[in-house]
Amino acid sequence: MDDFDFENRIVAPTEIMGDNDSDNPLRPKTLDDYIGQKKAKQNLAVFIEAAKQRNESLDHVLLYGPPGLGKTTLSGIIANELRVNLRITSGPAIEKPGDLAAILTNLNEGDVLFIDEIHRISRAVEEILYPAMEDFAIDIVTGKGQMAASYHLPLPHFTLVGATTRAGQLTAPLRDRFGVSLRLELYTPEELARIVTRSASILNIEIEPDGALEIASRSRGTPRIANRMLKRVRDFAQVMSDGVITLQTAQIALERLEIDELGLDANDRRMLSAIVKFYRGGPVGLETLAAAIGEEAVTIEDVIEPYLMQIGFLNRTPRGRCITKAACLHMGFDMPDAQDGQIKFE
Ligand code: ADE
Repeated sequence: MDDFDFENRIVAPTEIMGDNDSDNPLRPKTLDDYIGQKKAKQNLAVFIEAAKQRNESLDHVLLYGPPGLGKTTLSGIIANELRVNLRITSGPAIEKPGDLAAILTNLNEGDVLFIDEIHRISRAVEEILYPAMEDFAIDIVTGKGQMAASYHLPLPHFTLVGATTRAGQLTAPLRDRFGVSLRLELYTPEELARIVTRSASILNIEIEPDGALEIASRSRGTPRIANRMLKRVRDFAQVMSDGVITLQTAQIALERLEIDELGLDANDRRMLSAIVKFYRGGPVGLETLAAAIGEEAVTIEDVIEPYLMQIGFLNRTPRGRCITKAACLHMGFDMPDAQDGQIKFE
């Protein structure tokens, strides 16, 4: 079985090298330039303004939702709007409590500390984070036995912005220490078309409105995917025609990239095929499916499934994953027979 290269496919919502450079010119720097996420944006604007008026640091902010929707971008905007520095790290990068202590003690008053994938920090690190968030202080113990000494170190008042794809995986004490909690949603095709048009203008790419909408509607509600697709479609437009992205060049390019009208790529289609071919449409357990297609269960769960469920192609049932009638129609599959008396497609 071929390994699926889920992480490097063009529709991967996770970061690929180059996407996330902090000097990425496509990242908006102000709330005004940030398209979509209206609810989160409106509330954030109030909280930022209020903190500025009171001359206080902003309360800690938790951003959660599927990958690629702009959590890092938003943390940069928060820092920029507050006129403070941004320090970026991630849960897995903070290996020991000392690593976090070093970061915290180097912050300046009011700074924003962004911790991506915050659900992946260890318990020991989390213990440091509690007093840091609540009292702006850390307690450090050095030495052992009789040589042990403990220091109480005050910290500058800072704002922690935590990001996670899985709010449910945070421990309750950590979740409770965020004063602001914002859920990011998948973008509409119209919002994505505005993002694509904005990005095209920054990158000096000529694009027609229906070309932008075509890229947008195949981007799985995700700006990171839309921007990546824009760059690849530009390559086709440049080599195959006059460089202008029209509806037609977008369609031809995306067909060549094997991304269909709904944004499914060859790997999505292979996973859906496997459910039909090997398991008669399901239900099939996540681990079994993962083994069958040679992929990790968490990748399927976090990266592949959210969009397939969002468009109504896959159901999670207590007995396992089931493909839906809509998916069979889209893929041109025959409807699988009911298995084990299970009534599917209800
Ligand atoms: N680029 C990536 N995400 C964006 C957003 N939400 N608004 C504008 N440009 C973006």
